[in-house]
Amino acid sequence: MRLRGVKGIREALEQQPELVVLNPKDYKGSWASKFFKNNNPIHVELGMGKGQFISELSLLNPEINYIGVDMYDELIRKASIKARRSRETNDQISLANLALVLLNIEQISEAFAEGEIAVIYLNFSDPWPKARHARRRLTHAGFVNQYTKLLHKDGQIQLKTDSMSLFEFSLNSFADLGLRMRNISLNLHGEGLRTDLVMTEYETKFSGQGMPIYRCEVILGEQKLQTNTEASIAEEVPSIAPTAQSEG
Ligand SMILES: C[S@@+](CC[C@H](N)C(=O)[O-])C[C@H]1O[C@@H](n2cnc3c(N)ncnc32)[C@H](O)[C@@H]1O
Repeated sequence: MRLRGVKGIREALEQQPELVVLNPKDYKGSWASKFFKNNNPIHVELGMGKGQFISELSLLNPEINYIGVDMYDELIRKASIKARRSRETNDQISLANLALVLLNIEQISEAFAEGEIAVIYLNFSDPWPKARHARRRLTHAGFVNQYTKLLHKDGQIQLKTDSMSLFEFSLNSFADLGLRMRNISLNLHGEGLRTDLVMTEYETKFSGQGMPIYRCEVILGEQKLQTNTEASIAEEVPSIAPTAQSEG
């Protein structure tokens, strides 16, 4: 589905530089200091769609900087409307810890510096079911190798999908790269809706239809030595220090 070119979208986005970033390369290596003007950790959702997940998380965790990425300006516009509306209904006006970024994930390494990101969320990424399109899957080794460079040394990737084939492909991709996985679930909401976790638009839709939601976390660095506990689900307990505060 092509969404570009709807009249006036670019102008609408250009009028909100405090929330929308159209030239993310300008902030490479300085998202925290230059855009958010703090030293808080950065969590990025790749392919945010209309932004429900990233907007809600940013409301819940003001001490974390959230960046929602999508390649379609119309979706960035919809996400910006949603984020502003959620502030009205939640009686919190600050958008200070949220950025909505127009970027093709193929260019992610031009927009973030090594070690700059604490958590990457991949929520309901396009499954690209045909074998000849495997390289386009956002968990293909070509992408994952870039993510691991951009992630903090104790960083994480958190994946949710309704696609069993993408999930299978992703687990193999992570395993082939020697990455440690934990909290693997083949039916995240199987024992009732996990209302303690923030849901995405697609998750709401698919779980409402009774479809299983697959989830896993990839853990880099020291964290992989910790025991696997319920509380380790970082959507609820985000705790990774920003790069500048990390110790060697
Ligand atoms: C199926 S939707 C999921 C949206 C949202 N994460 C959710 O769970 O509701 C996938 C999103 O990824 C975006 N996307 C796919 N490939 C992308 C790419 N290469 N760069 C940026 N965004 C991409 C699409 O535009 C779309 O909004």
